[in-house]
Amino acid sequence: SSDHLRHVDSMARLPSGAGKITHLNAVVLGEALASEENDLVFPSPEFSSQALVSSPEQYVKMYRKSIDDPAGFWSEIASQFYWKKRWDTQVFSENLDVRKGNVKIEWFKGGITNICYNTLDRNIQAGNGDKVAIFWEGNEPGQDGKLTYSELLAKVCQLSNYLKNVGVRKGDTVVIYLPMLMELPISMLACARIGAMHSVVFAGFSSDSLSQRIMDCKPKVVITCNGVRRGSKTLALKEIVDTALLECAKSGFSVGLCLTYENQSAMSREVTKWLDGRDVWWQDFVPKFSSKCEVEWVDSEDPLFLLYTSGSTGKPKGVLHTTGGYMVYTATTFKYAFDYKPSDIYWCTADCGWITGHSYVTYGPLLNGATAIVYEGAPNYPDSGRCWDIVDKYKVTLFYTAPTLVRSLMRDGDEYVTRYSRKSLRVLGSVGEPINPSAWRWYFNVIGDARCPISDTWWQTETGGFMITPLPGAWPQKPGSATFPFFRLQAVIVDEKGSEIEGECSGYLCIKNSWPGAFRTLYGDHERYETTYFKPFLGYYFSGDGCSRDKDGYYWLTGRVDDVINVSGHRIGTAEVESALVSHPQCAEAAVVGFEHEVKGQGIYAFVTLVEGAPYSEELRKSLILAVRNQIGAFAAPDKIHWAPGLPKTRSGKIMRRILRKIASRQLDELGDISTLADPTVVEQLLAMDF
Ligand code: WT7
Repeated sequence: SSDHLRHVDSMARLPSGAGKITHLNAVVLGEALASEENDLVFPSPEFSSQALVSSPEQYVKMYRKSIDDPAGFWSEIASQFYWKKRWDTQVFSENLDVRKGNVKIEWFKGGITNICYNTLDRNIQAGNGDKVAIFWEGNEPGQDGKLTYSELLAKVCQLSNYLKNVGVRKGDTVVIYLPMLMELPISMLACARIGAMHSVVFAGFSSDSLSQRIMDCKPKVVITCNGVRRGSKTLALKEIVDTALLECAKSGFSVGLCLTYENQSAMSREVTKWLDGRDVWWQDFVPKFSSKCEVEWVDSEDPLFLLYTSGSTGKPKGVLHTTGGYMVYTATTFKYAFDYKPSDIYWCTADCGWITGHSYVTYGPLLNGATAIVYEGAPNYPDSGRCWDIVDKYKVTLFYTAPTLVRSLMRDGDEYVTRYSRKSLRVLGSVGEPINPSAWRWYFNVIGDARCPISDTWWQTETGGFMITPLPGAWPQKPGSATFPFFRLQAVIVDEKGSEIEGECSGYLCIKNSWPGAFRTLYGDHERYETTYFKPFLGYYFSGDGCSRDKDGYYWLTGRVDDVINVSGHRIGTAEVESALVSHPQCAEAAVVGFEHEVKGQGIYAFVTLVEGAPYSEELRKSLILAVRNQIGAFAAPDKIHWAPGLPKTRSGKIMRRILRKIASRQLDELGDISTLADPTVVEQLLAMDF
């Protein structure tokens, strides 16, 4: 059996005698401990005793079953969902080893189901029709709305009927470019209901990024809204779509229909730019359709959605998720990692434009019949207390956010937190990047009043759902560690050569087997799928993350090991930023690296070489940053431009990023060997620049 099984066995003895766990409500915090890994934070006995998984032993038992009999383990869980026809005899089949043929992952193949049906109809039949599915909170305090499960179903059906009426069929694609209005999850579910594949593009992406995605997935319809309020600003969202669609048309692809929701609180239709024949107001047509719509039954392996994410090179990758496995996996991981109870009120601050919003705003919670909050605004608007205002208003019990927000609120001071009660909170979640222990402690002590376990969930767009995560009632936590793998997963750490390393170690994080929520391909490019994820370490899924495991078997994620940087939990490929910079007429060459940033986790540091004769100026710096904002989006704007007379390159012309990273992090005495550079004086020139 696996290495991890030995670790969980040792974990079951934590902390030297499992019996102690029940009486240790003590929180080992703030003490000057020799090392982070000895810092254990225990769930309270009250919490553990009511938890779905309440002890290390119970986890070990379930985990062991999931390893010994994965088919039995997952088919038992999958049976709780509605299947029009049960899957074929084989629960799953997988090949992760390129030496044995193409990589292929299938779960519940032959099973006929529909995720929208399982989310809405099934929960309504179970008696949850009048339960609130979504509480919507607008940008401005006092602006709100809600939909029960029955009301949500009616809205979804109307849109499904509309989409069918305009010719959207099973297998077609719909691009959704919306802010956090209820219409966003409604649109996702409406597509799923009729078997159409949705591709949500985060509404902070620029028109260039949007058109690039549209050109790749060729949607029949684009759904957007006219405008949106972000904090104190109004943004004409549809104008971005207009530009993108014009761009697409120039390249030979025309979108015939742009369904536009009139977001009245932000912008009226009178001032909205309009293209007759292509643009249609949502409110003028959708409500006229019937609020009942038969579902389109699909195979478990039929595509559910595409979501583009950044890689280390080239254009964004269209991560493709299918139906049955994703459904079972997101629902189950949500339930266990948040210790979900039907009375919970759940709020995830992520936008549905990212995977977190797909799996843990829309599908995971609603599949469980949970009440979820959809918040349109910024977390610090009108002030830094807004989150806790919302927590108190809706009596939020499960709160899920990113370390970058925790750090920025921490910087703003405790007063914004302590003026609110927050006593409804039960579990806190973290996602997007490693949470540094000091932010973890503040989150735990100040936000959660030292009462709420923290689920630090490690996962990726590609994984569909949580991979390494605490089960909050099961075992003690260590601030900064995502703890242990979820059921069925054999998380392994490999060295440079791809050999698994046992015990206490650090290396590259890989997964040894498939799991139901795994992505099945990169849209239109299965070869890139294999090359990126399955060829670096043969026989394994490679995450792109570094990781270490401590003496107790806890996993500690240490960040990306490829050229992907993680800014405020958003993945950005250095190559994308570089290509945006060099598109500027005065930029000859650019090299981008990440550097440690107090709030964002990582910031973007760009070394820029100008074309011959171009003068360095503040104006030019601004216009370079603007080029990135325009081509990718504001969230990808470089924090720092470092003028570079030349870039450090090897004789074969490869940029030595290692040196640039050291300069960016001001570790100037650790530049290392620079003798292999084609021109070692380049480094001196770089250091001579004013930075
Ligand atoms: C990358 C995936 C998964 C939703 C949000 C980001 C980093 C994510 C954690 C965590 C340490 C984390 C990894 C990963 N990451 N969660 N809890 N601890 N690192 O999704 O954009 O696909 O990014 O985010 O580096 O590879 P994504």
